[in-house]
Amino acid sequence: MIESPYIPIKTEVLNVYQESPTIKTFALKPEKPLHFKAGQFIEMTIPGIGEAPFTPSSSPYENSKLDISIMKAGRVTERIHDLKKGEIVGLRGPYGNEYPLNEFEGKEILLVGGGVGLAPLRALFLALVHDIDKFKEILFCCGSRTPKDIIFKDCVLDKWQKIDKRVNFRVTVDKGDDNWKGKVGLVTTTLDNLKINLKNSIAVICGPPIMMKFTAFKLIDIGYKEEQIYLSMEKNMSCGIGKCGHCRLGDFYVCKDGPVFRYDKISHIHEIWD
Ligand SMILES: Cc1cc2nc3c(=O)[nH]c(=O)nc-3n(C[C@H](O)[C@H](O)[C@H](O)COP(=O)(O)OP(=O)(O)OC[C@H]3O[C@@H](n4cnc5c(N)ncnc54)[C@H](O)[C@@H]3O)c2cc1C
Ligand code: FES
Repeated sequence: MIESPYIPIKTEVLNVYQESPTIKTFALKPEKPLHFKAGQFIEMTIPGIGEAPFTPSSSPYENSKLDISIMKAGRVTERIHDLKKGEIVGLRGPYGNEYPLNEFEGKEILLVGGGVGLAPLRALFLALVHDIDKFKEILFCCGSRTPKDIIFKDCVLDKWQKIDKRVNFRVTVDKGDDNWKGKVGLVTTTLDNLKINLKNSIAVICGPPIMMKFTAFKLIDIGYKEEQIYLSMEKNMSCGIGKCGHCRLGDFYVCKDGPVFRYDKISHIHEIWD
């Protein structure tokens, strides 16, 4: 019998972490192992409510469980935010393409993330540091609206900064508060005075469309070529497997041809930042 690609794997919620006022991370244990590569996405089903696409935020090398970090946006994500430890959800996937890590080897990697866009980059970052000797340097630029909105706070502000001398962070918030001693400014300001050999660098951007747009423009201004920039694109999805056409971006389906795109492949598309 052929198994339907729409049937989800029964998955237990192991734990729930409040990352920020609007974002929670869910540690999940699927009944069967669900192997994904950094950049790929899964569809999470809430019985009786619906399903939505998310990119795992945990290391792709961790097999027994996976984390998904989810921002409350509407009907499905509001119900997901009510989930408690021990509840059962469904997962199907993984779908879409991954970051081409073999093309990143020997390069200086610049990661630029904004808001919940830091979630997919966490999976990529953990995959990169897993094989740190293959990469020259990693600079992770993280932008959030306020200090309260910084997700994976302990890691971004402390733990990950100590991983290796080849790993560096620039963290900024749009608006500080009385306790914030760090940088204030849009995430694009973290790209000023980059000490990177541009010719040997790859940049990866993930965040809301407006943030990705201005970050891509700034990288081009600085001297990056479109072929050196990768974007994680998000479009409203339904099937997740290239059948329904909901996620069309120019001649591409984001669910099948993406969600990871090299900028030069899509920069000509009129509705790229919609
Ligand atoms: C490949 C991919 C990976 C994603 N990864 C993550 C992730 O790791 N964490 C996370 O929090 N979110 C992620 N998203 C976005 C997430 O899928 C949407 O927030 C979710 O589908 C909203 O569902 P809802 O029913 O709660 O909201 P709805 O009631 O459907 O919509 C609320 C608002 O969000 C907009 N919206 C709905 N779906 C999407 C979408 N797919 N992309 C952009 N805007 C949307 C709607 O237009 C509306 O304005 C990802 C989306 C894609 C396509
Ligand atoms: S979501 Fe159906 S074709 Fe992409």
